[in-house]
Amino acid sequence: MDIPKLFSLDGKVALVTGGSRGIGRMIVEGFLGAGCARVYISARKVEQLEATVAELGDKVIAIPGDVGTVEGCRALAEAIGAKEEKLDILVNNAGAAWGAEFENFPEQGWDKVMDVNVKGPFFLTQALHGLLKAAGSMDSPAKVINIGSIDGRKLNPWETYSYQASKAAILHLTKRMAARLIEDGIVVTAIAPGAYQSDMNKAARDFGDAVAKGIPARRIGEPEDMAGAAIYLASRAGDYVIGSTVTVDGGIVDAGLPHNSIDPS
Ligand SMILES: NC(=O)c1ccc[n+]([C@@H]2O[C@H](COP(=O)([O-])OP(=O)(O)OC[C@H]3O[C@@H](n4cnc5c(N)ncnc54)[C@H](OP(=O)(O)O)[C@@H]3O)[C@@H](O)[C@H]2O)c1
Repeated sequence: MDIPKLFSLDGKVALVTGGSRGIGRMIVEGFLGAGCARVYISARKVEQLEATVAELGDKVIAIPGDVGTVEGCRALAEAIGAKEEKLDILVNNAGAAWGAEFENFPEQGWDKVMDVNVKGPFFLTQALHGLLKAAGSMDSPAKVINIGSIDGRKLNPWETYSYQASKAAILHLTKRMAARLIEDGIVVTAIAPGAYQSDMNKAARDFGDAVAKGIPARRIGEPEDMAGAAIYLASRAGDYVIGSTVTVDGGIVDAGLPHNSIDPS
């Protein structure tokens, strides 16, 4: 068994939405290290995209856009289609969150979050269906990896109603899309990250030591944890993982003790 080949992304072409920073960028760096020929990144802020390209090198190509609208998803797919005949890997990572107390939670906080976190992954995958089909076969499938969250698997204490619902939705949508797209040689899976430093997770970014105390692994997630999971799913190693969610959270969901457990000592 050739283990380096098993985890290699040699020559693959990938698109990572929200690849300009945070978790998306961690995945981009992993894909480059695993041998991707080109990694497209997309986000709304052009300056941050350009800065990331400048730091990571010319295998990274920025296409600005908004995946929170159907037109934005179609425009992004069209721009990729103008440059590539096929797309091996799509990571639907771009995400948004909204917190407000129950009494005042606004409709906009539902629309924005559901549009980016649930509708975006669906309509971008739909728009890229042809390019993914061109890359994939039953023997060597193309990959769609949706970035969910542990907040879709268990409650968090914050009043982020639409976010938590959107992350449960994307994990279930992953299964439904996987059931259809495997017919076309496209494998759909999800990753549920725990706490990683980012603009969205300011607690992990600014108070990592305190956050770590509540995690069974006693640390927050590192870029290697996220890159490792994404490379596994994207490479030959993950070909037989279909519709599943890989939880990469240091044990919060599956090895975390209940809040009310009493220490007998
Ligand atoms: N960090 C964590 O602890 C954690 C935990 C669980 C799950 N996640 C998930 O991981 C993913 C990445 O989050 P992150 O923590 O890395 O957050 P982040 O630092 O805020 O990054 C979000 C990325 O998505 C892009 N984005 C947001 N809205 C967009 C839109 N409408 N169209 C295109 N791009 C858009 C952002 O760029 P622009 O603002 O320039 O558009 C940015 O590149 C999200 O799906 C999030 O829910 C994160």
